[in-house]
Amino acid sequence: MTKSKISPNRQVSSLVEETLAFAHVFEEVGIDYCCGGDIPLESACEEAGIDVDDVLDRLESEQTETKDESDGWNSMSELTDHIVTAHHDRLRDELPALEALVHKVTEVHSDDHPELQEAESEFVELADEMQTHISEEEDELFPIVRKLERGMPLSDIETETIENEIEGFEDDHQETADRLDRIAELTDGYAVPSSACASYRSMLDRLESLERETHLHVHKENNVLFPAIESLVAKTGVEL
Ligand SMILES: [Fe+2]
Ligand SMILES: [Fe+2]
Repeated sequence: MTKSKISPNRQVSSLVEETLAFAHVFEEVGIDYCCGGDIPLESACEEAGIDVDDVLDRLESEQTETKDESDGWNSMSELTDHIVTAHHDRLRDELPALEALVHKVTEVHSDDHPELQEAESEFVELADEMQTHISEEEDELFPIVRKLERGMPLSDIETETIENEIEGFEDDHQETADRLDRIAELTDGYAVPSSACASYRSMLDRLESLERETHLHVHKENNVLFPAIESLVAKTGVEL
């Protein structure tokens, strides 16, 4: 048994919450740390059919090699600002551009790769839902978070909005994860066919990046931001 400072009983999501760089390791070994990260590391490894000691070794080396990004968030406002600039703004640029590429590749290659048609439909739905979702977070939830953090009293409607929004956003995150899983499955884990042209390769590469970045984005909301909001609400005595 490898001696490790990290306990295999720790929850996957809390490990990433503490050390964001662990997300890279979990992506590489295929462990879900965002929507399904609410289980002990040992069980997650068992489910994924991988050796828990190997994963612990990789986590330990990641821990010594990287400076953790999450050290930089001193408040919920800083975190929401970070989410907007690092994730939402990037999605606003990337989703329409990637959608155009998906249409182009599907049009040219779907005779040889009929699975591209379903991947295209999934992507169109995904892009539409994600763009609505990020605007709703920015317009409806984040302003209330700033108000709450400044100690300003919330109206009943705002209190109710927090509760409903968080629940709705978590459901959206799961739906997004399911669509990304389906796209990964349809493309055989973004495997590049031998006949693929540069556009096809670029599409697969960008879809894979989108999946990885979305896992990180969702983790920051589901496992860091939303619990922080709930805890601040509890501290300020607002009933949810
Ligand atoms: Fe977001
Ligand atoms: Fe979100």
